[in-house]
Amino acid sequence: MKDKQTPGIYWGDYESVSKVDKAHFEDFKRQSPREIEEACRDQDGRLQHIINAEHFDLDFLTTLCDTAKAARRIDDGNREFLGKLLRGRGSINFFKQPSSRTWSSFTRAAGILGMQTVDIKDVSTSSEVKGESEKDSLRTLSSYGDALVCRHPSDEYDLFGLWVQKSSGREIPFINAGSGTKRHPTQGILDYYTIKESFNGNIDGRVIAFVGDCLRGRTVHSLAKILALHKNITAYFVAPENLQIDLETERYIEDRGVMVHKETESLRRVVPLADAIYMTRVQSEHGGSGDYNEIFKFTMNSLDSMCDGAILMHPGPKRDEIDPEIDYLNSDQRVMYWRQQRNGMWTRVALLAHVLGVDDKIRETYKEYTKIGVDR
Ligand code: CP
Repeated sequence: MKDKQTPGIYWGDYESVSKVDKAHFEDFKRQSPREIEEACRDQDGRLQHIINAEHFDLDFLTTLCDTAKAARRIDDGNREFLGKLLRGRGSINFFKQPSSRTWSSFTRAAGILGMQTVDIKDVSTSSEVKGESEKDSLRTLSSYGDALVCRHPSDEYDLFGLWVQKSSGREIPFINAGSGTKRHPTQGILDYYTIKESFNGNIDGRVIAFVGDCLRGRTVHSLAKILALHKNITAYFVAPENLQIDLETERYIEDRGVMVHKETESLRRVVPLADAIYMTRVQSEHGGSGDYNEIFKFTMNSLDSMCDGAILMHPGPKRDEIDPEIDYLNSDQRVMYWRQQRNGMWTRVALLAHVLGVDDKIRETYKEYTKIGVDR
């Protein structure tokens, strides 16, 4: 029987079937990274499948941020406009790992655009328990909707989700809502939006400190790769040796001009140097203890030693890595992590609007508002 703890992909219980499916998937994976990226784009070169932050460029991110901002402003006064854009269309959420923020913000984003959502968050209620393979599950779910949003523990799930779409004959946008330990592209987008808004669009030359589980924190990998699109970025990875950033990601960002520093002793020295401090919890679901070494915790003293204009971020969920008193500093402009979460909803509105081709209507409508002075 199926081992529910295995973080791999479930191919069903029948070897005669899984052998065939696996062979097709292996064939698909033989494509080069460039071919995979091309498979994620439509005929006009627009990204349709959001599987990996490595596929993003600054044009895409800037447009997405503009759409998110426009949607946020339009919503404050003309919610009906947004609610008509994708009325009657469907977004399917298939989450095989727990989630509060990503799932609820995607669900709300779909609702803001007038979409209906179907949710499978507990696989024990799906037909996988009857022996249906994940390939068949995804293909089935795809046939009921216009976009598919998935979270999964497997490091191969980004390619798997893309492969299912490409081989289904009824392709709909596939959005990776967090897979394995390295990919969380939509979190990368919302973090990027938060940084861009915080620094009035000026990101070149910024210093970011990633703190905590730099090895298995998939949000760290996605954001670091996105920031590497900018010039003169400095990244500090503040973590014990065993949770330090992996060589593949380090090389990827260094090759794109990021100055990388690894700090294994203490957070204190790094705080005054950073424009953005990006705390993360220890991802104990991947093994080991979730305990946070005191020397990497963000304290009230850390807040005092931040440089002017710097922000404190956290992708959530958090545990005890930030002094809990900091949660109550609601008007403190440095404490960004609650606003960061809310930004997730607006960037996911922008993303769904993008993959379903209505994002230009949002930006154009907002432009009209600013012309006639409706914008607040
Ligand atoms: N940041 C994030 O992915 O949070 P959730 O696991 O709650 O979705």
